[in-house]
Amino acid sequence: MSELLDVCAVEELPPGARRVVSWADGEIAIFNCAGELLAIEDRCTHDDGPLAEGDLDERNCTLECPRHGALFDLRTGKPRTLPAYVPVETFAVRVADGRIQVEVD
Ligand code: FES
Repeated sequence: MSELLDVCAVEELPPGARRVVSWADGEIAIFNCAGELLAIEDRCTHDDGPLAEGDLDERNCTLECPRHGALFDLRTGKPRTLPAYVPVETFAVRVADGRIQVEVD
């Protein structure tokens, strides 16, 4: 059964901003990519790099891993460049009563 994690108020995550929340299986990074809210696991599939610290490209909604530079598509979790080749987990994001929430299993 899925569970909802409370992230923050909508106005606390403006375009270009990011947040990290903890849950049982690790950490989730939530991004506001030019108004689109997207969430991925905060752990690179290549070598566990801290993805939330990477550079966000708001035009393409991609994120560059700060460790070795793999580029991930935030919408699908799929890597677009090596050295990563396994997708990161993505999570559904929703807004309820002015709060951003992430759906986890
Ligand atoms: S840890 Fe992310 S590219 Fe190596």
